[in-house]
Amino acid sequence: MSVRDNKLNESVETALAEIKTQDSGMPEGCIVDEPLDPCTIIIVGASGDLTARKLVPALFNLYVNEGLPNPFLVVGCSRTEMSDHGFRTKMKESLETVDGLDQAKWETFAKCLYYRVIDYEDPSSFEGLADVLRDLDKKHKTRGNRIFDLAIPPSLYGTVAQMIGKVGLSIEREEGNGWSRIVVEKPFGRDLKTAVELDKALHEYFKEHQIFRIDHYLAKETVQNVLMFRFANAIFEPIWNRNYIDHVEITAAESLGVEHRAGYYEQAGVLRDMFQNHMMQLLALTAMEPPSLFEADYVRDEKVKVFRSLRPFPVESLNKYLILGQYGPGTINGEKVPAYREEPGVSPNSLTPTFAKMKVFIGNWRWKGVPFYLTSGKRMARKLTQISIQFKEVPHSLFRPVLGEHITANRLILGIHPEEEITLTFQTKYPGAKVCLRSVTMDFLYHQNYSGPVLEAYEKVLIDCIQGDQTLFWRQDAVERSWSFLTPILEQCETCGDRGERLLPYAAGSWGPKAAEALRQS
Ligand code: BG6
Repeated sequence: MSVRDNKLNESVETALAEIKTQDSGMPEGCIVDEPLDPCTIIIVGASGDLTARKLVPALFNLYVNEGLPNPFLVVGCSRTEMSDHGFRTKMKESLETVDGLDQAKWETFAKCLYYRVIDYEDPSSFEGLADVLRDLDKKHKTRGNRIFDLAIPPSLYGTVAQMIGKVGLSIEREEGNGWSRIVVEKPFGRDLKTAVELDKALHEYFKEHQIFRIDHYLAKETVQNVLMFRFANAIFEPIWNRNYIDHVEITAAESLGVEHRAGYYEQAGVLRDMFQNHMMQLLALTAMEPPSLFEADYVRDEKVKVFRSLRPFPVESLNKYLILGQYGPGTINGEKVPAYREEPGVSPNSLTPTFAKMKVFIGNWRWKGVPFYLTSGKRMARKLTQISIQFKEVPHSLFRPVLGEHITANRLILGIHPEEEITLTFQTKYPGAKVCLRSVTMDFLYHQNYSGPVLEAYEKVLIDCIQGDQTLFWRQDAVERSWSFLTPILEQCETCGDRGERLLPYAAGSWGPKAAEALRQS
């Protein structure tokens, strides 16, 4: 080997070593970069499912990974009679389903849990709660910083927010209070009118910077990565527009059915359950302009602009833009599953859609004429959440005489779940003497070369809320824009005479009604 070859090898090895160091592990400060303020998290509705399944497990995991402030407290409240001890035991039971529960850590964590019986509509009950919180503050030095997490039915959001406000707990930095925040989950109303009413009730005592409207999709690592991918790389943005992109498909398919949530789902259906929130957020992240700073309002301003640019549906020719379906019986993973109408709690004549495919256009310079297909459904063949960017074919194929008119165009897939990956498909020459092309796929697995802790969606939501960072939460103007787009569609779908005929059946375990495939051509 020549001296030149040796030098070359050395420099290649140095470059590889550099890549490896940049790649492995997590830069310092990637989870929480500043000490968190001490605080109390008040879970209203603490005897319910959400608290046991999501909130307390998320808090406990954060605690184990030293991601919670010190000191911190949890005060569970609900109508159910329970003591502090009873609440701790109930929470422990729900965590015991998790493998390898760290008993020692649990014992210290459990000491931070308290419980208080509360009547959601009785002001004196909230006065009692305020006294308890002030006493706990003094005892544990939590400095009056509070998060009210409403794990209650949405119909109670307004009432409870007002009760909290009436007893002075929403006031910030006065009367012994520190900061005060309120967390609500979707649905934020069931149409534009009710969303505005809910907002009015929340704003009676809380200001916008205190209100955290959760969308758990935004807290998914792979969803957050959409902005990093688009705006931290120079090579994609120049082609991210109507000149190069043919269409975009955003899919959130689930194999699960309605489960035990028929009461809610019958009233919501797939458009309210998935489109008003998660699908709209995925659309906004894919289509928005780069904000000038990665800060909550800069990011949220750009998203709102996307919602404002959505071209309204011509409701008179709705079926050219929207296909609705409902699952019938079928087989999933080798098991027979019932039809939606046979699920417990569902009306045998239900007209609630469990599947929708929508073709939307964004009326702006970047996206004019590019269809975005949004698809979501329950009981589909498998769980699959992804954003697929289909590029246009090459403008002129010099290989036409050998390969014919069409060459498969490039496709970029941002896999959200369960495949957490990015893949790019392109053409290469098939090895050999003949001129043949083949499609190959380059892939990046999201967790490649990473061994640090991964935050579950609720963990990320809670940390951001403690830090007061609203980037990953809905702002009210966006909620209203999203409803403004969907409300006329919902009204048309729910009041039209042929509601039943519009709802196409599909077998559980399939990819939805056949007609959905045809939406592309229409
Ligand atoms: C929720 C919907 O917001 O999102 C559910 O209410 C749906 O119906 C769920 O199943 C899907 O979330 P994920 O994270 O499993 O894709």
